[in-house]
Amino acid sequence: MSECKRRRMIAGNWKMYKSQAETRAFFEAFLPLVADVTDLDIVVAPPYTSLGVAVDLADGTNVGVSAQNLDWRKEGAFTGEVSAVMLKDAGCQYVIIGHSERRQYFGETDSGVAQKTKAALDAGLTPIVCVGELLQDREQGRTEAVLSQQFIGGPGSLTADEFSRILIAYEPVWAIGTGKVATPEIAAAAHRFLRQCVAEQYSAEHAAAVRILYGGSVKPENIQGLRAQEDLDGALVGGASLDAKSFADIVKCK
Ligand code: PGA
Repeated sequence: MSECKRRRMIAGNWKMYKSQAETRAFFEAFLPLVADVTDLDIVVAPPYTSLGVAVDLADGTNVGVSAQNLDWRKEGAFTGEVSAVMLKDAGCQYVIIGHSERRQYFGETDSGVAQKTKAALDAGLTPIVCVGELLQDREQGRTEAVLSQQFIGGPGSLTADEFSRILIAYEPVWAIGTGKVATPEIAAAAHRFLRQCVAEQYSAEHAAAVRILYGGSVKPENIQGLRAQEDLDGALVGGASLDAKSFADIVKCK
């Protein structure tokens, strides 16, 4: 197994927050704080309207820029949508796909997640594909069934070559924005289960190589415990990524 070779990633998902001026202020404060970080990938995902500012300010730095969603079609009469090709053209390197808020409020399905993931890969973007169970799934003992279903219908439908170019984010829905972080043990168990799904669908090598991030109320105060779990390869951070200092503290946790 090659766990120790996986490069960690800390990604910030800004959701529907920050104007262009606020994005500029964030980068001006954040970049110097993380300028000496070389041992992990740092990613920021602003809203569409701030992508241009973020791409310009992150250019030539150790911070990559991600979008939060995309439309799987290349172009066409789809009012309000943005394609993977357009995101690539705008300077994005990554895109978050299948976030639970998109599943919950915008009706995203596993097959839609699969289509979007393929489109992102075709355009040369690195997809960060989210999966995660609801509180009621966990309470009813259905966590693994839900994760398995989301995996098989979404990223698990890629070819082996495609799969080797994505990241997965495990985000238990009950931990998102609630302040209720999963214990490191709960998160690690889910990550191990997902790795097992990858091994069954693809190979032991794919399972050992895929990077799986944890997301859900990650803060500077709890990153250390999560960091200690060897199956966790980093974090997808919502609220705490909006503040330059707190996001930098998460990035720099040793
Ligand atoms: P949170 O969000 O850190 O605010 O819980 C995480 C996410 O939704 O990606």
